[in-house]
Amino acid sequence: MNVDQMYQTLKQKLGDIVPDAELAIKAEVAIEVLRLKEERNAVILGHNYMEPALFHSIPDFVGDSLGLSRRAAETDKDVIVFCGVEFMAETAKILNPNKTVLVPAERAGCSLAASITAEDVRQLKARYPGVPVVTYINTYADVKAECDVCCTSGNAAAVVNSFQDQTIIFLPDEYLARNVAAETGKHIIIPSRDPRMNTKDSLVDVQIIGWNGKCEVHEQFTVEDIESIRAQFPDVVVLAHPECSPEVVAASDFSGSTTAMVKYVEDTKAPRFLLLTECSMGDNVAGALPDKEMLRLCSIRCPYMGMITLENTRDALKYNQYVIEVPEDIRVRAERSVQRMLEIR
Ligand code: 13P
Ligand code: SF4
Repeated sequence: MNVDQMYQTLKQKLGDIVPDAELAIKAEVAIEVLRLKEERNAVILGHNYMEPALFHSIPDFVGDSLGLSRRAAETDKDVIVFCGVEFMAETAKILNPNKTVLVPAERAGCSLAASITAEDVRQLKARYPGVPVVTYINTYADVKAECDVCCTSGNAAAVVNSFQDQTIIFLPDEYLARNVAAETGKHIIIPSRDPRMNTKDSLVDVQIIGWNGKCEVHEQFTVEDIESIRAQFPDVVVLAHPECSPEVVAASDFSGSTTAMVKYVEDTKAPRFLLLTECSMGDNVAGALPDKEMLRLCSIRCPYMGMITLENTRDALKYNQYVIEVPEDIRVRAERSVQRMLEIR
C-alpha cells in the first residue's frame, strides 16, 4: 500500500470524523509504521481506545484486553508493539518472555493498576487465609504474581463462576466487582484498607471480598448523564463499560467489555447509541459503522490511552522504545495467573 492508498482508506472510514489535512499527515506516518513493522518482523496490537487514524490503519489485530491477550499468546513475530497502556504490554511480555515487547509511550499508566500493590495483596491474603485471589488484568505483573487467576471485563463473570460457591478476593476495581457480584448473584463486601478497621470481618454469606480501586475515567459517568441524554434522544440505546458504577450500569441498556460493546452496536438495529467509555472508541465504531450515530461524552478521556499515537508508534519501532521488562521470578508466577484465565472459556 502507498501513502495515497492509505489516505483513501482512512478518508473512506474517517472522512466525517477527522479533518482531511490531518488524515494526509496520518497516512504518511501509517505507511512508515507499516514499513518498519515488516523490517522488524513485528505484530501491532491495538486496543479499542486508540486514536481513530491509528486504529483504522496499522494494527494487525484490534480488540479488548482479553482478545489482545489471546493474540499476544499466539504470535510468532519477534517484536510485539502494544498500542495500549503499560499493563497490557506487560501482559504480552508475561506471555512472551523471549520476544521484544514495546509500548509507544513511557508513562501510559492506569488508575486501577496504580490502586494496588503486591504488598497490599500479601496483606489481604494474610487477613483472609486460604481465600483464592482473582485480579483484574488492569494490574501490574507483581500483583498478578500474588494472585491465583486473572480476569478481564470480557470474562470476569465466567472466572468468578469458575469458583462456584467458594468465597474469593476480587481486585482491584470496586465497581467491576460490584457489577460482577450483581450479575452472578453473589454477596460482596469492600473491607477498609486499614486492617485494624476490620477486626470483626465475618465471611458468613460473603462470596466476594473487593478492593476500592476505581477507573478515573469510568467513575465520572453518572445516572444524571444518562437521564439527560435519554430526555434529549428518547430512542438512544445506552452502553456502559463495567468499570462504571453499578447505578450507571443499572440505568444502561447493556454493559460489557469494549469489544462486547462494539458487537452489541453491530448486532442491534437502533439508530443511536450512547457509549459510556473512552470517547475515541465512539470515533472508531462510527468509522466502521457509518449508519449508526454514536453519542459520547468526550470531556471524559483516558489520559493514558491518549498518550499512544501513530507518531510514537513509529518511533517505538524505529528506536526500539519503550522496552517492557519483567523480572523472571515475578513473570513466571504472573504467567500462571494469566494462563489460567486464558484456559477459562
Ligand atoms: P476492555 O478489556 O473492556 O477493553 O477494557 C480495558 C480498559 O482499560 C477499560 O477501561
Ligand atoms: Fe485504566 Fe480507566 Fe484508562 Fe482503562 S480507561 S486504562 S481502566 S484509567
